[in-house]
Amino acid sequence: MNEAKEKRDEISKEKDKNYRQNKRSQIEEHSSDASSSKRVKYDTAQNVNNTSSELSSNNSEKRNESLSKKEHSDNSLLVIQHYNTILDDRKKSRILYMRNFNNWIKSMLMFEYTNEIYGTRLKALDMCCGRGGDLTIQECQDRYNEMLKQNSAERKYSPIFTAEFITADCTKVRLRSKFEDPSINFDLVSCQFAFHYCFESLEQAECMLKNASECLKPGGYFIGTIPDAYDLVWQRCDGNSFGNDIYNVEFFCNKTKPPLFGAKYHFKLGNLVNCPEFLVYLPVFRKLALKFGLNLVKFERFDSFYERMKNKKKGKHLLKKIQALETYPSQHGEMLAGNPDKDYQHAKEYNTQKTSNRREIGTLSQPEWEVIC
Ligand SMILES: C[S@@+](CC[C@H](N)C(=O)[O-])C[C@H]1O[C@@H](n2cnc3c(N)ncnc32)[C@H](O)[C@@H]1O
Repeated sequence: MNEAKEKRDEISKEKDKNYRQNKRSQIEEHSSDASSSKRVKYDTAQNVNNTSSELSSNNSEKRNESLSKKEHSDNSLLVIQHYNTILDDRKKSRILYMRNFNNWIKSMLMFEYTNEIYGTRLKALDMCCGRGGDLTIQECQDRYNEMLKQNSAERKYSPIFTAEFITADCTKVRLRSKFEDPSINFDLVSCQFAFHYCFESLEQAECMLKNASECLKPGGYFIGTIPDAYDLVWQRCDGNSFGNDIYNVEFFCNKTKPPLFGAKYHFKLGNLVNCPEFLVYLPVFRKLALKFGLNLVKFERFDSFYERMKNKKKGKHLLKKIQALETYPSQHGEMLAGNPDKDYQHAKEYNTQKTSNRREIGTLSQPEWEVIC
């Protein structure tokens, strides 16, 4: 146990050092052999540190740290019910642009990795699509059916893609057994803004990763986006909660020494998100993924990903098309999403330093950037 503690302290010190060096810079890891095994690529909304021990610590310790079975099902239910009941008032939302920006990140991530996969017909599995663009799975299916109808009526040829919709808890159920064709393999498995829910317990994380891995073809990619535990844990705040006008994080675990699994916090974002989430400790994630044949090839922060993709043709076009950034100063007398007096200082400063005469820039309000980076 003492050795384990020493090891934990050592890791914690190392993380602290790295965190300070890497704050706001890219975290990138390359595998030695990414071509033969399956690969995992994760992007994070925030920066990371954690003080937990490695996965190899003894089992009884792990079990004590994680939550009871009853609590697990309560949390899963809360998350799913929450996403099924939120009203879709995106148009009125204070965080409309931030959500569009997140959609841009997801689209560009998928674009990057589908481009890596050559072949005639790409097969992809979207785990935890849930409301898929904020719709229930039924609405998602209806929307897809509508697309099919339009496509064949207007263009008179077979649909662009076929799809199957499955309602299941990815952390508890073997997905393969639910597919119409249980022998199907996918080129890409994606899990956007949802993988962290499985870190409620070791069993759930294993089930999720097993699902992802066994559905992938050799050489395929598992991609996703999660909040970055290091940043959450390293937020300098008194007490157990922090946030700003639009978001709030409150910890329900020992923040200075969170458990490997079940490190619970409550995340509230605007009037749309309000549910329990769990910290994902990167070394454990990497080790567990390896156990299921997934090799971590890249881990990147949103700010770095944005810098890398924003000037690519597709990135530029999509930023405009889906209004992933807000125009500052506002146009045609429209109201800004944030408070014009205090939320756009960065944009004002940027404009005063600019040499060109064009005043309009694309940005987000400061509180929204704070959620993303
Ligand atoms: C933040 S939303 C992201 C939805 C979608 N992936 C996207 O990016 O728009 C999280 C989604 O994960 C779903 N979810 C959470 N836990 C799940 C689980 N254990 N199994 C399946 N879906 C889950 C929720 O229902 C919710 O729709």
